[in-house]
Amino acid sequence: MINKLDMRADIQEVLLTEEQILARIKEMGKQITEDYKGKELVLVGVLKGVVPFYAAMAQAIDLQVQEDFMSVSSYGAGTVSSGKLIIRKDIDIDIEGKDVLILEDILDSGRTLRGVVQMFEARRPASVKICTLLDKPEGRVEQVEAAYAGFTVPNAFVVGYGLDYAGYYRNLPFVGILKPEVYQDK
Ligand code: IMP
Ligand code: MG
Repeated sequence: MINKLDMRADIQEVLLTEEQILARIKEMGKQITEDYKGKELVLVGVLKGVVPFYAAMAQAIDLQVQEDFMSVSSYGAGTVSSGKLIIRKDIDIDIEGKDVLILEDILDSGRTLRGVVQMFEARRPASVKICTLLDKPEGRVEQVEAAYAGFTVPNAFVVGYGLDYAGYYRNLPFVGILKPEVYQDK
């Protein structure tokens, strides 16, 4: 059961500390700054899990950028998914001719991002790429790769730094593995 009085007590193991995460984001930011010099970059964050990563990542990119957000949910999570997405909030910016970088908290099966990339490509941007804080390659179902990935994580359920379980733990400043008993009596 979720310990609503002490979120840290529910963490089995810290995988990535705040210091490690911030150092890696700064590295990625330098690379992205190099790669997108002279381009019209639009950062698109997929809510809600991306929020802390997005804030740090945008500041680590030393370029003139536009920022936007979207919210999606997918059909059939945990079952046989059709891969169809429900767009709960679309972006506001017209991305035609622009270079789009989608920011995500974690790339797992790839269903969410495959759908988002396809939807954006129909709007004729100059390019669409993915930047994810975490990559869980063992979970992959769709052929989706991130141009920029902060860390590879094992096939375990992780929370913190934006990632949630049942809507909680997003505000932990690190990434950790949840104790099994938190799910067990669910
Ligand atoms: P995908 O469509 O399977 O790649 O799903 C990515 C989404 O699943 C992420 O945006 C997360 O919301 C969620 N997700 C996948 N793995 C984890 C995890 O280990 N912890 C928390 N959320 C996860
Ligand atoms: Mg999510």
